[in-house]
Amino acid sequence: MVPELQKSTVRIQQPERVVGLIRAIKEQGGSKLQVISDFDMTLSRFGCNGRRCPTSHNILDNSHVVSEDGKKKLKDLLHHYYPIEIDPNRTLEEKRPLMVEWWTRAHELLSQQKIQKGDIAQIVRESDVMLRDGFNELFDQLHKYNVPMFIFSAGVGDILEEIIRQANVFYPNVHVVSNYMDFDDSGVLKCFKSPLIHTYNKNNSVLQGTAYFQQLSTRTSIILLGDSMGDLTMADGVPSVENILKIGFLNDKVEERRGKYLDAYDIVLESDETLDVVNGILRYILMET
Ligand code: TMP
Ligand code: MG
Repeated sequence: MVPELQKSTVRIQQPERVVGLIRAIKEQGGSKLQVISDFDMTLSRFGCNGRRCPTSHNILDNSHVVSEDGKKKLKDLLHHYYPIEIDPNRTLEEKRPLMVEWWTRAHELLSQQKIQKGDIAQIVRESDVMLRDGFNELFDQLHKYNVPMFIFSAGVGDILEEIIRQANVFYPNVHVVSNYMDFDDSGVLKCFKSPLIHTYNKNNSVLQGTAYFQQLSTRTSIILLGDSMGDLTMADGVPSVENILKIGFLNDKVEERRGKYLDAYDIVLESDETLDVVNGILRYILMET
């Protein structure tokens, strides 16, 4: 059905369920399908040649527009809070207030750096960000078959939009909800717009009214892509979901987190920097027979 599912990076707890879901989504057809995806470390790469790739926040942190002192403070925050974000032994309730603290402090620091709107394109061009291998096929297929792609990100919207624009895949079927920068009249960053989106509030609470999903109420088949346990609730605002296939990238602390990921995601991709499996599934679903 989907040869890519034989890759050594693929782990599935309930293979029959996955086969059933893929078949059901294919039966419903592309006109019933929507894709809901996280951005950082899901559409973008986690690593390359043994080095970590930046998140949309890291792209700003590492750029020439942030002072040395600002860089150090942002790095200290990352080293303190990231292990908490991915700790399998803490509950979401424990993590939530700490994530609000991290995002709030990082956004405050960035807002002191006099970042100019006009600098964003160059900052992205000069960064080490990489989209996962196969991103072209993913975006092109969804565009070709008019499948809506909703990117729900706790990263920085202005940065991630620029990444997909520079990759020439920001098609009209792509819709982004994320943290956006608020610039003053002279184009200097003054703060971030609310609501604040962090790893563990990606749900209805920030999609208020979910006007976007309401207009897609006939898209009852969903493919959800994420890399965090917080990404699992991204489709909560969708009315009348019939079939949802959850695909999770397990990038870091693979051994420690495997059990929880296998329980939560239908398909787990371990240290897989490609979109091969997603593309294989979409090719099968969208293929005209
Ligand atoms: P997301 O991939 O769930 O949208 O979350 C964004 C990622 O950004 C999350 O893994 C934590 C990371 N992050 C940074 O790298 N630097 C920061 O300053 C903040 C606030 C988040
Ligand atoms: Mg992510």
